[in-house]
This record gives sequence, structure tokens and C-alpha cells, in this order.
Amino acid sequence: MAAFGTVFMPEMALATFENDQWNKAQIVSADSINLHPAAHVLHYSSTCFEGLKAFKHEDGSVHVFRMDQNIKRFAQSSRFLSLPEVDEAQVAQMIMDIVAKYADDVPLPPGSMYIRPTHFGTEPAIGKAAVPSLTSMLYVLLSPVGDYFTGGAKALRLLLDETGMRCAPHMGMIKSGGNYASALGPISKARVEHNADQILFCPNGDVQETGAANFLLIDGNEIITKGLDSTFLHGVTRSTILTLAADLGMTISERDITVSELLERSAKPGVEAALSGTAAVLTPVGTFIHNDKEYTVGSGEAGPTTAKLRQALNDIQWGKAPDVHGWLKRVK
Ligand SMILES: Cc1ncc(COP(=O)(O)O)c(C=O)c1O
Repeated sequence: MAAFGTVFMPEMALATFENDQWNKAQIVSADSINLHPAAHVLHYSSTCFEGLKAFKHEDGSVHVFRMDQNIKRFAQSSRFLSLPEVDEAQVAQMIMDIVAKYADDVPLPPGSMYIRPTHFGTEPAIGKAAVPSLTSMLYVLLSPVGDYFTGGAKALRLLLDETGMRCAPHMGMIKSGGNYASALGPISKARVEHNADQILFCPNGDVQETGAANFLLIDGNEIITKGLDSTFLHGVTRSTILTLAADLGMTISERDITVSELLERSAKPGVEAALSGTAAVLTPVGTFIHNDKEYTVGSGEAGPTTAKLRQALNDIQWGKAPDVHGWLKRVK
């Protein structure tokens, strides 16, 4: 199967912001865009994006999952990057229109249609290093996907990094391209030097997140994850899993967790750790690597609570359990 995110639908929805207003969105070819070489985004990284999914149910209907949350975060990212204010209703309509057009191409579970809204500054002005772009482009690209982690539920190896950071602390809650570029070097090094799948960024011992997913620790009936602050991305899957865990009667602890507490707790039998994200869903973590030593989390394998929560999430997304929280929006 093709690698995640390398296959695209032939068209996308696109809107541009010019003269202080959004133009009417259009469905255009997804093969290429026209961008001036001096476009603000190419020099000063005025860009943000989102990732959400549409699912096909057994009756052939197609539903987007928690679109309102992703659009809210998209608008917030745009605002923090001084991009033009997005029109949330317009973005919702663009998503609905393009997914409806390609509804027949939405893969059946465990596949889905990954939806990538993207917004960036287009003003050709290389003198604007410290001034926002007055124009922008926003599009919604579609990519049919299978499972992100091709090993399936294979437990991951995470390098705990206490000295580096994923990105600048005030940028963590912004889903911006520059954050990912800034984490690439350390992640590549961790792969080569430690055979790690990901880095769990823990600046000064504060357990934050990995390059593309949030981190959760499960100890018996308790689920522990860092409380929301500006340093990391406020994952929609994180909030979904916490809600589902509370529905199942689990105790939710949103608070700071240190590397020493993490290593101490995860040595206990039955403890589980997992990564949450739209792409990752809920992926088990089996090993931590810290100061060249390896620590097995619980049994080192995918644990039962992680599997139960992942299933509860998939059951709603796939239309096999009632959508009691109203997370699905029917496209077709
Ligand atoms: C850095 C980072 N953290 C966390 C997440 C999880 O966010 P969400 O659950 O909204 O996909 C993502 C995106 O998938 C991410 O890129």
C-alpha cells in the first residue's frame, strides 16, 4: 500500500484572501498551485494546517469527525501567526463540498479520507520579515489513507529528550509547518542513534508530546496527560479519548508529569502508555529510551486499556456505536 498521505484526490477546494476579504471558494485541480517565489510563506513560514478524517459507514454514508474542533484550532493557528482571519463557516462548507464530491473514494474502515486544510501567506514581499502577509491562500486537500503506523498495533519505542524542544514554547499550540521542520533533525537522529520511532519531548523533565501525537499514561483506572498550556498541540484525539475514558468510568488527571515519575510509574506491571492523534489514533508505547538505558513500559506490548479505548473511538467513527457526543457530521 502507498505510504500515508502520498495519494491525493484530483481536486481540492480553494479560497484566496485579497483586498481584505475572502473570495468565493472554488473546486480546482489538486495537481499544482500558483505561487510567487517571493510569497511570504516561503520566506517567513506564515503557514498552518489541520488534519481530520471522514469515515464511511456500512450503509455507504460518509461522516466527518469533530470538524468543528479542527476548524476552531485552524482559526486559532491562523490568528497566532497573524494570517488573515479565516471564515469558519466558509472552511466548513469547503470541507463538506470537497468530501461530498469524493465520497465514493472514501475508503472503508480501517481506512478513511484524511482531510488537510492548509492556510498560508502569499503576498510577494520579501521585505515583510516582521510584517504580516496581506493576502493568503487556503485549500482543503484530500488523501485516502489506511493505517498510519504500518506495524498496526506494534508498541513504539520513544526516546525521552530532556534537553531539546519540539518548537519554541509559545508555538506549541499552533499547528504550523515550522514546528515540524524544527523537530525533524532531532527525530532523524533519534531514529539512527537509538532505533527510536519517535521522540517524546520533555524539556527540563516536563513530559509534553511527540513530533505528531499527544502522550497519555494509563495506570489502572487512571489516565494521566499534561494539562493544556501553550507549549504543545491541543489534540482533538486527546480530548476525545479523555471523554471516552471518563464515559468508561476512568479517572482523568490532566496535570504535569515529570520524566522521573514517568519512568517510576511505567515500571509497574499493568501500566500502559500511548500516543493519540488523528493519524496515530491510539498507538501503544512499549519502550522508553532515556540516557542510553531502555525501560519497558508495563508488559512492553499493546495493553488492554489502550486497545479498549482505541476500539471505543473507532466504533463511533465507523458507525458501530452510538455517537452520543454528536462528533460525526454526515456529508452524504
Ligand atoms: C504535534 C502534534 N501533537 C498532537 C497531535 C494530535 O492532534 P489531533 O488529535 O488533533 O490529531 C498532532 C496531530 O496529529 C500533532 O501534529
